[in-house]
Amino acid sequence: MKNKLNHVSFIMDGNGRWAKSRNKSRTYGHLQGINVIPKIIEYSIKQKINNLSFFAFSTENWNRSKSEVTFLLKLLEKNLSKKIISKANEFGIKVIWIGFEKNLSKSLIKKINFFEEQTKNNNTINVYFYFNYGFKDECECALEKIKLSKNSNEHFEDYLLTKDVPQIDLLIRTSGEKRISNFSFYQLLYSEIIFEPTLWPDYNEDIYSKNIEEFYSRKRRYGKA
Ligand code: IPE
Ligand code: IPE
Ligand code: MG
Repeated sequence: MKNKLNHVSFIMDGNGRWAKSRNKSRTYGHLQGINVIPKIIEYSIKQKINNLSFFAFSTENWNRSKSEVTFLLKLLEKNLSKKIISKANEFGIKVIWIGFEKNLSKSLIKKINFFEEQTKNNNTINVYFYFNYGFKDECECALEKIKLSKNSNEHFEDYLLTKDVPQIDLLIRTSGEKRISNFSFYQLLYSEIIFEPTLWPDYNEDIYSKNIEEFYSRKRRYGKA
């Protein structure tokens, strides 16, 4: 039987190297990188994939230069526009933010929440956008909360930011780096993983289609012999 592809996840990596190889600033790479996202969403809808996720900014990415961090925050803010909300609504895209409020401005949080609110009734595809996310902090927060909880029926999982995110069937990390970098471990229990050499700004539907083909060719055993 054909593998089921319910959730594809991307660690979008390689923007900086892409720009560097063109003698441009790292921020130029981020600008190009963001253009790839709508193409991947559209292609996923055509493939009838119901859940997509994008790792856009990790809790470790605060360690970059102030100017790069500021640029990335502004880039997110710029894309939380009315125009993009109406695009999301046109295609039936429900956008869900996965990340911490810590270190983000109140106005940015408000805009993210507004975007989520405006797209919450869409049901063609769920797009989980991981911004200011790290699995380590997710666990630490969940542990803190469960310790304080008086309700013994509650589980650790109930306190995870990702509690409603489905298991990832296929994880694709671009740029050739072979690591998870503190991404959504709890959803990666049985994911197929592809370390795709293409740098994120060069990633496109053709490469995605090949990655999906590879996913379908794999044998998922889940521990069975
Ligand atoms: C991915 O590209 C985008 C973010 C992590 C924000 P990078 O900025 O990590 O690009 P490289 O890995 O330095 O080339
Ligand atoms: C991982 O990329 C995080 C995101 C894509 C948001 P990084 O470029 O930050 O990861 P490392 O530092 O190479 O592990
Ligand atoms: Mg990187």
